[in-house]
Amino acid sequence: AKTITYNWDVDWVSASPDGFLRPAVGINGQWPCPSIMADVGDRVVVKVHNCLVNETTAIHFHGIFQQGSNQMDGPAMVTQCPIPPGESFTYDFMIKQTGTYWWHAHVGGQYLDGLRGPLIIHDPEAPFVKEIDEEIVLTVSDWYHEQAPYLIQYFQSGLNEDLHGGSEPVPNATLINEAQNVHFPIKPNKSYLFRVINMGGFAAQYLQFGEHDMDVVEVDGVYTKRHRVSQLFVAAAQRYSVIVKSKRNATQNFAITASMNEDMFDEGVIPVNLNPLVTGWLVYDETKPLPPSPPAINYDGKSQNDIKFIPLDMQKPLGPVTKQIPLNVNFSQNVQNQNRGSFNNISFIAPKVPTLYTALSAPAELVNNPLIYGNNTNPIVLKMGEVVDLLITNYDGGAHPFHLHGHSFQVIARSGAGPDNGPPLTIPKNYSKNAPDAPLRRDTILIYGNGYAVIRFKVDNPGITLFHCHIEWHVEAGLTMVFIEAPTELQKLGLVIPDSHKDVCNKQGIHMKGNAM
Ligand code: C2O
Repeated sequence: AKTITYNWDVDWVSASPDGFLRPAVGINGQWPCPSIMADVGDRVVVKVHNCLVNETTAIHFHGIFQQGSNQMDGPAMVTQCPIPPGESFTYDFMIKQTGTYWWHAHVGGQYLDGLRGPLIIHDPEAPFVKEIDEEIVLTVSDWYHEQAPYLIQYFQSGLNEDLHGGSEPVPNATLINEAQNVHFPIKPNKSYLFRVINMGGFAAQYLQFGEHDMDVVEVDGVYTKRHRVSQLFVAAAQRYSVIVKSKRNATQNFAITASMNEDMFDEGVIPVNLNPLVTGWLVYDETKPLPPSPPAINYDGKSQNDIKFIPLDMQKPLGPVTKQIPLNVNFSQNVQNQNRGSFNNISFIAPKVPTLYTALSAPAELVNNPLIYGNNTNPIVLKMGEVVDLLITNYDGGAHPFHLHGHSFQVIARSGAGPDNGPPLTIPKNYSKNAPDAPLRRDTILIYGNGYAVIRFKVDNPGITLFHCHIEWHVEAGLTMVFIEAPTELQKLGLVIPDSHKDVCNKQGIHMKGNAM
């Protein structure tokens, strides 16, 4: 094990991944941003210096549990203060997991402007390691021509009908590895491990590798039984590792295509000239011409149902379940005509002090009391060791990729889409009995419009555990909540809040009292 240190100056740079020049948030003068590459057991130190001048920043390591290091998780006003312009902040944590992850800004839609990258954790004992000749990281993402703060305003501007304030901004392009027409050099008769990451902020993507099948072997950091698909459906923030066998005698090159799921876009706001598709190339022979770009992909409906992926460790459903939490997902207009998302009719509004610091500084006898965390953060206090089912019913017609920080949850039940105009499908009373023998575990699950899912996890990671839709527009619209996980044990952990974390709070006049600071 080693320590890997990154020094990151976060700043505006120019980028034109699809031919349209715009400012993007880059690192050390570059965009696309760098990947974090680590081995299991490593310590990762990321020293962030915010050079943006006009925006704060904060970085989250998506899928990393941060067991015993919740103060390094990253979401602004949840586990830290945002880093103001000119200030520095250090993330420092141990890598105890393996697989395919990513990192991204966790403040104000900033990762849509480019502040995002892969986070890969190599495992010498990965079950497929001996079979693989080469490994390739492949990201897919949606991309906008306007900057996130403007688009957020547009999305939340319910007062202006002309701006279609209620409709999510539709991306202008799709990217593979933050570019278009990327060439992946391929040798015949080899096994490639493609680590696929959707780093986008909105659209789910259909991915195909020309005439090559994919064997899924990892889902969101969990090794799974080999399962062959011809098309991969990857919602925002989800990851898959797939093995692609190259052809024995290839006399041509093949297109890799990623195509946005246009069903997620409101009719009437889709630009007529939108090309939902991006092409990359499996290049066997650089001297051969590339084939014509294929048409946009439609879901073939049969190659992927998440619940078909089975964890290699065959872990049984956790139990007994000690708490069931129904969560109803809704969108509605508030008094300002803004489109607000909610869990159980509560729309998230960031607290004045990061929730973690509230938990750390609270008197022991109050730390389990949800009232101290403020109703607007929709706090649910969980006790150490509890086994929790979240019974999520989607009263919205759109699909939402929900992400739980700090855990891989078991997918106990999951429906397809419900009737277009609702009401949503009901979670069967006996859902637990019908759970798969070895349910898929992952950290981000797509719940279809008017559909449902039940996800299960064990309370074993003291800290503030964010749960939210990973469509960035919906985060801004309040479709977020917090679990206050084992706060009594959290206080006993003795988390050290580093000086750089305290300083960025002080600079903004956010002052903590008591034990925390
Ligand atoms: Cu990928 Cu709360 O984030």
